[in-house]
Amino acid sequence: MEEWRAKKQRGERITSLTAYDYPTARLLDEAGIDIILVGDSLGMVVLGYEDTTEVTLEAMIHHTGAVARGVKRALLMADLPIHTYDTGEQAVTSARALLAAGAQAVKLEGGASHVGQIEAVVQAGIPLMGHIGMLPQSVRKEGGYKLKGRTQAEADVLIKDARAVEAAGAFSVVLEIVAAETARQITEAVEIPTIGIGSGESCDGQILVTHDLIGLFPWFTPKFVRQEAEVAGEIRKAAAAFIERTRG
Ligand code: KIV
Repeated sequence: MEEWRAKKQRGERITSLTAYDYPTARLLDEAGIDIILVGDSLGMVVLGYEDTTEVTLEAMIHHTGAVARGVKRALLMADLPIHTYDTGEQAVTSARALLAAGAQAVKLEGGASHVGQIEAVVQAGIPLMGHIGMLPQSVRKEGGYKLKGRTQAEADVLIKDARAVEAAGAFSVVLEIVAAETARQITEAVEIPTIGIGSGESCDGQILVTHDLIGLFPWFTPKFVRQEAEVAGEIRKAAAAFIERTRG
Protein backbone atom coordinates (compact mmCIF):
# COMPACT_ATOMS: atom_id res chain seq x y z
CA MET A 1 0.00 0.00 0.00
CA GLU A 2 3.10 2.22 0.04
CA GLU A 3 2.43 2.89 -3.65
CA TRP A 4 -0.45 5.23 -2.72
CA ARG A 5 1.76 7.39 -0.50
CA ALA A 6 4.37 7.38 -3.27
CA LYS A 7 1.76 8.67 -5.74
CA LYS A 8 1.03 11.53 -3.35
CA GLN A 9 4.73 12.33 -3.03
CA ARG A 10 5.06 12.40 -6.82
CA GLY A 11 1.97 14.60 -7.12
CA GLU A 12 0.12 11.92 -9.16
CA ARG A 13 -3.63 12.34 -8.79
CA ILE A 14 -5.57 9.20 -7.77
CA THR A 15 -8.85 8.38 -9.51
CA SER A 16 -11.66 6.34 -8.02
CA LEU A 17 -15.23 5.50 -9.06
CA THR A 18 -17.89 3.19 -7.67
CA ALA A 19 -19.19 -0.01 -9.24
CA TYR A 20 -21.77 -2.47 -8.02
CA ASP A 21 -21.97 -4.91 -10.95
CA TYR A 22 -19.79 -6.83 -13.42
CA PRO A 23 -20.18 -4.73 -16.61
CA THR A 24 -19.61 -1.38 -14.90
CA ALA A 25 -16.60 -2.74 -13.04
CA ARG A 26 -15.12 -4.16 -16.24
CA LEU A 27 -15.68 -0.92 -18.17
CA LEU A 28 -14.11 1.21 -15.43
CA ASP A 29 -11.19 -1.18 -15.10
CA GLU A 30 -10.60 -1.14 -18.85
CA ALA A 31 -10.81 2.68 -18.79
CA GLY A 32 -7.83 2.75 -16.41
CA ILE A 33 -9.37 3.88 -13.11
CA ASP A 34 -7.03 3.44 -10.10
CA ILE A 35 -9.52 2.31 -7.45
CA ILE A 36 -12.98 0.76 -7.86
CA LEU A 37 -15.15 1.10 -4.78
CA VAL A 38 -18.13 -1.10 -4.11
CA GLY A 39 -19.66 1.75 -2.13
CA ASP A 40 -22.56 1.39 0.23
CA SER A 41 -24.09 4.10 -1.98
CA LEU A 42 -25.35 0.81 -3.46
CA GLY A 43 -28.27 1.36 -1.09
CA MET A 44 -29.50 4.42 -2.98
CA VAL A 45 -28.38 4.11 -6.59
CA VAL A 46 -28.98 0.38 -7.04
CA LEU A 47 -31.29 -0.88 -4.30
CA GLY A 48 -33.62 2.13 -4.17
CA TYR A 49 -33.36 2.96 -0.45
CA GLU A 50 -33.35 6.54 0.80
CA ASP A 51 -29.82 6.36 2.22
CA THR A 52 -27.00 3.92 3.01
CA THR A 53 -28.34 2.86 6.40
CA GLU A 54 -30.31 -0.12 5.05
CA VAL A 55 -27.29 -1.76 3.39
CA THR A 56 -26.30 -5.13 4.84
CA LEU A 57 -23.02 -7.00 4.78
CA GLU A 58 -24.73 -9.74 2.75
CA ALA A 59 -25.67 -7.20 0.03
CA MET A 60 -22.11 -5.85 -0.02
CA ILE A 61 -20.69 -9.38 -0.33
CA HIS A 62 -23.07 -10.18 -3.20
CA HIS A 63 -22.15 -7.04 -5.18
CA THR A 64 -18.44 -7.26 -4.34
CA GLY A 65 -18.40 -10.73 -5.90
CA ALA A 66 -19.97 -9.42 -9.12
CA VAL A 67 -17.52 -6.50 -9.31
CA ALA A 68 -14.52 -8.72 -8.57
CA ARG A 69 -15.32 -10.82 -11.65
CA GLY A 70 -14.93 -7.69 -13.80
CA VAL A 71 -11.73 -6.23 -12.30
CA LYS A 72 -8.27 -7.27 -13.43
CA ARG A 73 -6.12 -4.22 -12.79
CA ALA A 74 -7.62 -1.62 -10.42
CA LEU A 75 -7.55 -1.88 -6.65
CA LEU A 76 -10.91 -3.29 -5.58
CA MET A 77 -12.20 -1.81 -2.35
CA ALA A 78 -15.51 -2.45 -0.57
CA ASP A 79 -17.35 -0.42 2.05
CA LEU A 80 -18.05 -1.84 5.47
CA PRO A 81 -21.76 -1.06 5.88
CA ILE A 82 -23.31 0.46 8.98
CA HIS A 83 -23.13 -1.62 12.21
CA THR A 84 -20.68 -4.13 10.76
CA TYR A 85 -17.70 -2.49 12.51
CA ASP A 86 -19.04 -1.44 15.89
CA THR A 87 -16.05 -3.17 17.55
CA GLY A 88 -12.56 -4.01 16.33
CA GLU A 89 -13.34 -7.72 16.34
CA GLN A 90 -16.54 -7.24 14.34
CA ALA A 91 -14.69 -4.98 11.88
CA VAL A 92 -12.09 -7.70 11.22
CA THR A 93 -14.76 -10.40 10.73
CA SER A 94 -16.75 -8.18 8.35
CA ALA A 95 -13.65 -7.08 6.43
CA ARG A 96 -12.55 -10.71 6.00
CA ALA A 97 -15.97 -11.55 4.54
CA LEU A 98 -15.56 -8.77 1.94
CA LEU A 99 -12.05 -9.99 1.13
CA ALA A 100 -13.39 -13.53 0.66
CA ALA A 101 -15.82 -12.05 -1.92
CA GLY A 102 -12.92 -10.51 -3.86
CA ALA A 103 -12.17 -7.12 -2.27
CA GLN A 104 -8.52 -6.19 -1.77
CA ALA A 105 -9.18 -3.37 0.70
CA VAL A 106 -12.05 -1.99 2.78
CA LYS A 107 -13.29 1.46 3.76
CA LEU A 108 -15.08 2.54 6.92
CA GLU A 109 -16.56 5.84 8.11
CA GLY A 110 -15.13 7.64 11.14
CA GLY A 111 -12.02 9.42 12.38
CA ALA A 112 -10.58 9.52 15.91
CA SER A 113 -13.72 7.74 17.16
CA HIS A 114 -12.84 4.65 15.07
CA VAL A 115 -9.11 4.26 15.68
CA GLY A 116 -9.67 0.92 17.47
CA GLN A 117 -11.52 -0.56 14.51
CA ILE A 118 -9.01 0.79 11.95
CA GLU A 119 -6.05 -0.59 13.93
CA ALA A 120 -7.71 -3.98 14.30
CA VAL A 121 -8.39 -4.29 10.57
CA VAL A 122 -4.93 -3.07 9.55
CA GLN A 123 -3.23 -5.36 12.09
CA ALA A 124 -5.18 -8.25 10.58
CA GLY A 125 -3.31 -7.47 7.34
CA ILE A 126 -6.25 -5.86 5.55
CA PRO A 127 -5.61 -2.55 3.73
CA LEU A 128 -8.07 0.11 4.86
CA MET A 129 -9.17 3.52 3.60
CA GLY A 130 -10.63 5.95 6.14
CA HIS A 131 -13.58 8.26 5.47
CA ILE A 132 -14.10 11.55 7.31
CA GLY A 133 -16.11 14.74 6.87
CA MET A 134 -19.74 14.10 5.96
CA LEU A 135 -20.47 10.51 6.94
CA PRO A 136 -23.45 9.19 4.95
CA GLN A 137 -24.11 6.40 7.46
CA SER A 138 -24.87 9.16 10.02
CA VAL A 139 -27.14 11.17 7.70
CA ARG A 140 -30.28 10.51 9.75
CA LYS A 141 -28.58 11.69 12.95
CA GLU A 142 -27.13 14.71 11.12
CA GLY A 143 -30.37 15.65 9.37
CA GLY A 144 -28.85 15.89 5.87
CA TYR A 145 -25.70 15.97 3.77
CA LYS A 146 -24.11 19.10 5.24
CA LEU A 147 -20.79 20.77 4.42
CA LYS A 148 -18.10 20.00 7.02
CA GLY A 149 -15.10 22.09 8.12
CA ARG A 150 -16.63 25.50 7.56
CA THR A 151 -14.80 27.17 10.46
CA GLN A 152 -11.16 26.83 11.55
CA ALA A 153 -12.34 25.11 14.76
CA GLU A 154 -14.17 22.49 12.67
CA ALA A 155 -11.16 22.23 10.37
CA ASP A 156 -8.89 21.50 13.35
CA VAL A 157 -11.15 18.62 14.46
CA LEU A 158 -11.04 17.15 10.95
CA ILE A 159 -7.24 17.50 10.80
CA LYS A 160 -7.06 15.55 14.09
CA ASP A 161 -9.38 12.92 12.61
CA ALA A 162 -7.21 12.58 9.50
CA ARG A 163 -4.04 12.28 11.59
CA ALA A 164 -5.70 9.66 13.81
CA VAL A 165 -6.78 7.64 10.77
CA GLU A 166 -3.25 7.87 9.36
CA ALA A 167 -1.61 6.88 12.66
CA ALA A 168 -4.00 3.91 12.94
CA GLY A 169 -2.60 2.57 9.65
CA ALA A 170 -5.06 3.60 6.91
CA PHE A 171 -3.39 3.86 3.49
CA SER A 172 -5.63 6.74 2.38
CA VAL A 173 -8.64 8.75 3.51
CA VAL A 174 -11.82 9.99 1.82
CA LEU A 175 -12.85 13.59 2.55
CA GLU A 176 -16.57 13.91 1.86
CA ILE A 177 -18.23 17.33 1.46
CA VAL A 178 -15.46 19.17 3.28
CA ALA A 179 -14.90 22.91 2.71
CA ALA A 180 -12.20 23.29 0.04
CA GLU A 181 -9.79 25.24 2.26
CA THR A 182 -10.15 22.68 5.05
CA ALA A 183 -9.57 19.83 2.58
CA ARG A 184 -6.40 21.63 1.49
CA GLN A 185 -5.19 21.89 5.10
CA ILE A 186 -5.95 18.20 5.77
CA THR A 187 -4.15 17.16 2.58
CA GLU A 188 -1.10 19.10 3.72
CA ALA A 189 -1.27 17.69 7.26
CA VAL A 190 -1.04 13.98 6.38
CA GLU A 191 1.30 11.82 4.31
CA ILE A 192 -1.42 9.43 3.14
CA PRO A 193 -3.39 10.56 0.08
CA THR A 194 -6.71 12.31 0.57
CA ILE A 195 -9.46 11.36 -1.88
CA GLY A 196 -12.07 14.09 -2.18
CA ILE A 197 -15.75 14.02 -3.01
CA GLY A 198 -17.34 17.45 -3.07
CA SER A 199 -14.26 18.78 -1.26
CA GLY A 200 -12.53 20.99 -3.83
CA GLU A 201 -9.50 20.49 -6.02
CA SER A 202 -6.67 20.30 -3.47
CA CYS A 203 -7.13 16.64 -2.54
CA ASP A 204 -4.64 14.04 -3.77
CA GLY A 205 -7.38 12.27 -5.70
CA GLN A 206 -11.08 12.35 -6.50
CA ILE A 207 -13.89 9.83 -6.09
CA LEU A 208 -17.45 9.91 -7.41
CA VAL A 209 -20.48 7.69 -7.47
CA THR A 210 -20.46 6.45 -11.07
CA HIS A 211 -24.22 6.85 -11.43
CA ASP A 212 -23.77 10.58 -10.71
CA LEU A 213 -20.88 10.94 -13.18
CA ILE A 214 -22.72 9.22 -16.03
CA GLY A 215 -26.24 10.52 -15.30
CA LEU A 216 -27.75 7.15 -14.44
CA PHE A 217 -29.65 8.37 -11.37
CA PRO A 218 -31.54 11.39 -12.74
CA TRP A 219 -33.79 11.85 -9.72
CA PHE A 220 -30.99 13.32 -7.62
CA THR A 221 -27.48 14.50 -8.46
CA PRO A 222 -25.33 16.24 -5.82
CA LYS A 223 -24.51 19.86 -6.69
CA PHE A 224 -20.75 19.28 -6.75
CA VAL A 225 -20.93 16.63 -9.52
CA ARG A 226 -19.76 17.50 -13.02
CA GLN A 227 -21.77 15.04 -15.08
CA GLU A 228 -19.99 13.59 -18.14
CA ALA A 229 -22.83 11.61 -19.76
CA GLU A 230 -26.61 11.28 -19.75
CA VAL A 231 -27.14 7.54 -19.62
CA ALA A 232 -30.65 7.79 -18.16
CA GLY A 233 -31.73 9.71 -21.27
CA GLU A 234 -30.16 7.05 -23.52
CA ILE A 235 -32.03 4.28 -21.68
CA ARG A 236 -35.30 6.18 -21.97
CA LYS A 237 -34.69 6.76 -25.70
CA ALA A 238 -33.78 3.11 -26.36
CA ALA A 239 -36.80 1.83 -24.39
CA ALA A 240 -39.14 4.23 -26.24
CA ALA A 241 -37.68 3.13 -29.62
CA PHE A 242 -38.15 -0.54 -28.69
CA ILE A 243 -41.73 0.03 -27.50
CA GLU A 244 -42.51 2.00 -30.65
CA ARG A 245 -41.05 -0.55 -33.08
CA THR A 246 -42.65 -3.51 -31.26
CA ARG A 247 -46.11 -1.97 -31.04
CA GLY A 248 -45.76 -0.65 -34.57
O1 KIV B 1 -20.52 4.72 -0.80
C1 KIV B 1 -19.88 5.45 -1.57
O2 KIV B 1 -20.13 5.46 -2.76
C2 KIV B 1 -18.84 6.29 -0.99
C3 KIV B 1 -18.32 7.49 -1.69
C4 KIV B 1 -17.09 8.03 -1.08
C5 KIV B 1 -18.32 7.59 -3.11
O3 KIV B 1 -18.43 6.02 0.10
